[in-house]
Amino acid sequence: MDLKTKYLGLELNNPLIVSACTLGHSVDNIRKLEDNGAAAVVLPSIFQEEIEGHIEDIESILAESGAEATTYLPPSIADSSGPQNYLDLIRKARAAVDIPVIASLNGTSLTGWTDYAAQLEEAGANAIELNVYFLPTDLSLTGQQVEQRYVEILKAVKKAVKIPVSMKLSPYFSSLGHMVRQLDAAGADGFVLFNRFYQPDIDLEELTLQRDLNLSHRGEIRLPLLWLGALHGHVKGSLAASSGVQTAKEVVKYLFVGADAVMTASALIRHGVGYMKTLLDGLKLELEQREIESVSRIRGKMSRHAVADPTAFDRANYIKILQGAPRG
Ligand SMILES: Cc1cc2nc3c(=O)[nH]c(=O)nc-3n(C[C@H](O)[C@H](O)[C@H](O)COP(=O)(O)O)c2cc1C
Repeated sequence: MDLKTKYLGLELNNPLIVSACTLGHSVDNIRKLEDNGAAAVVLPSIFQEEIEGHIEDIESILAESGAEATTYLPPSIADSSGPQNYLDLIRKARAAVDIPVIASLNGTSLTGWTDYAAQLEEAGANAIELNVYFLPTDLSLTGQQVEQRYVEILKAVKKAVKIPVSMKLSPYFSSLGHMVRQLDAAGADGFVLFNRFYQPDIDLEELTLQRDLNLSHRGEIRLPLLWLGALHGHVKGSLAASSGVQTAKEVVKYLFVGADAVMTASALIRHGVGYMKTLLDGLKLELEQREIESVSRIRGKMSRHAVADPTAFDRANYIKILQGAPRG
């Protein structure tokens, strides 16, 4: 069975990628994930705030030493330096595994931190996943200004590196498809749908904001399923699904709507890194049962333009669903 796929121009043995999450902090985990069949790993994010918090240290040392790259930082600073440790993680992961290692760069404004992308490349990252985790709580910002921010940050990162750059997006754009096409035209090599925005809850006893991290459930595949299905065949960049994978069934559904790769974090955290093998074996079994010999045979077969009735993706479907709902 041929499970091979191409994502961001990278040849992958199968479509399963470890999504950016805490598991990727440990090289031991990354090695085990590869052993269990992961085709690539996205490292946890390095944040603009971490990079900027070290810029002065880094700049002053570079000025003193005349060195050109932060890889020359003395160990005393490197030990406590987030960005430096992140580069070390990339180097160690690269040395430990054969699968592609994708760095995750997470920031919100167009400042010098985007140059750090060049160091991710130099450390050996095979690609960069750019996560512009921007919450437009400034009520004076227009949708166009928000979109422009994404495009400008992407362009700055693309300018700094030669490796592929994907955009991890949230679904919260007034016209997601147009946003994706703008980023596609600006050179994004792929799209990860979707980012999860962590939303606060209120602790009514303490009257404090609760910031907890809930793992996903399978119902969460539906929104990415809809949008991957709408985008498949309409963008140059690759498409990766992220959200809600709990079993191989979700993986197969994502492939059917057009995903080139499928990412998973919560399921691996919930069941352990060995669960990657369960997902991969499950994927093989799902395909075998359907007598499908390669993932390329099903990719996009249920995308919006491939299904007989595309209105099932649309408003017409919504109306039908509401009309069929129980009336008490
Ligand atoms: C513990 C944990 C840590 C995460 N850390 C990051 C991160 O550093 N950067 C990022 O872009 N996404 C991060 N995510 C989001 C995941 O990459 C993924 O997009 C999201 O969890 C949905 O996928 P899932 O349903 O497979 O968990 C994290 C998720 C979890 C559960």
